[in-house]
Amino acid sequence: MAGPFYAALATYVLMLLAYRWHQVRRFHMTVMVAVMAFDVAMPFYLVATRDWGKRLLADGDILSFGVWMHFGLIITLFVLYAIQVQTAVQMLKAGAEGGAEIRAAHRVQGKGILVARALVIATGAILAEPTNPA
Ligand code: HEM
Repeated sequence: MAGPFYAALATYVLMLLAYRWHQVRRFHMTVMVAVMAFDVAMPFYLVATRDWGKRLLADGDILSFGVWMHFGLIITLFVLYAIQVQTAVQMLKAGAEGGAEIRAAHRVQGKGILVARALVIATGAILAEPTNPA
């Protein structure tokens, strides 16, 4: 597990800071976009560095509940990300005064993202092979 798990945990802490200090708009936006890019890149990194044919097919992990739960949560997270970016753009267009409804939507979805992402990291940690150093 090690590497990717601790990297994801570090980005989660960063995300919590950016969530708390959303008023510092540039910091908030930069961190959130970076975290999203990190999450999109992670599957590519893992596919490149692990033997998925062996793990999923030969070892039969493809039939495991944990794998599908992890996968489902990732899809949920990415859908939430897409909606969150849309509300962010609408908020920026509405300016400082307007957009109360869209602001509320962004806020509520933000909480959902924090929960979904925590679960993605937790289920990923459960699935990770303890012997894998990278
Ligand atoms: C591409 C990603 C994102 C962009 C561009 C973005 C942009 C923004 C902007 C421009 C604001 C208004 C800042 C202000 O003046 O208060 C804001 C507020 C906020 N954002 Fe984001 N955001 C993004 C992702 C996220 C994520 C992933 C979360 C949660 C994990 C989040 C949670 C919040 C919260 C709670 C607020 C305060 C809303 C309020 O009560 O007014 N954002 N965001």
